[in-house]
Amino acid sequence: MLNVKNLHAGYGKANVLHGVSFEVKAGQCVSLIGANGAGKSTTLKCITGLMQARQGTIEFEGGRIERLPGHQIVRRGITMCPEGRQVFAAMSVVENLKMGAHTRRDANEDADLEEMLDMFPVLRKRATQMAGTLSGGEQEMLAIARALMSRPRLCIFDEPSLGLAPKIVQEVGETLSRIKATGTTILLVEQNASMALGLADRAYLYEAGEIILQGTGRELMEHPEVSKAYLGE
Ligand SMILES: Nc1ncnc2c1ncn2[C@@H]1O[C@H](COP(=O)(O)OP(=O)(O)OP(=O)(O)O)[C@@H](O)[C@H]1O
Ligand SMILES: [Mg+2]
Repeated sequence: MLNVKNLHAGYGKANVLHGVSFEVKAGQCVSLIGANGAGKSTTLKCITGLMQARQGTIEFEGGRIERLPGHQIVRRGITMCPEGRQVFAAMSVVENLKMGAHTRRDANEDADLEEMLDMFPVLRKRATQMAGTLSGGEQEMLAIARALMSRPRLCIFDEPSLGLAPKIVQEVGETLSRIKATGTTILLVEQNASMALGLADRAYLYEAGEIILQGTGRELMEHPEVSKAYLGE
């Protein structure tokens, strides 16, 4: 479904990605893990059109997307739930959800809004509340639901568990499992390696802008380098 080949990217004079390649098959959950600053978010920005790759190709469902602007990438079926949630603080929960559907051209938005409020009862309870006044966990659920409102075939998550209490982290993990069960393909970047690898059909370990290890979630979990550095064992 998604094929990233020899991706190079950077900021100004700094080169951050040095030839990253990986693929995501339809229906899979693929996780990218690795230390702070390794280039995971930079990779996601290239895929979603927030920045341009310096070299390499990104193919989605057979078409090249590495030169497309972000809104066209969303229309093709890729949506990102961004790091730090980035909900629209001065808009209500329902208004935020509707923003997630703004690139759509069909008339099913209201039905999907209802579906999201069913899937996330906490959002229904707070439908008219300003998003900026939600708790961190509630804001994460809103960011996830807003991403789903575009009906993505590939949904990308950047650090969905960041700063959340263990119980809420578990809830986020369960939510991602449910999303995958509905047939949505997932690309997940996550500092919480046990969650990321537990969900992953396939996983990639980043180090300093390169992928240094790959395998199934379980294979990476059992790899000594991963278990020592990322799972605290
Ligand atoms: N807008 C920017 N301008 C300049 N440098 C940047 C910018 N964004 C990221 N970088 C640098 O690029 C490198 C990779 O950052 P990136 O955000 O991709 O890492 P990451 O793997 O997502 O890390 P984390 O786990 O901390 O989120 C870092 O050295 C970072 O300082
Ligand atoms: Mg990041």
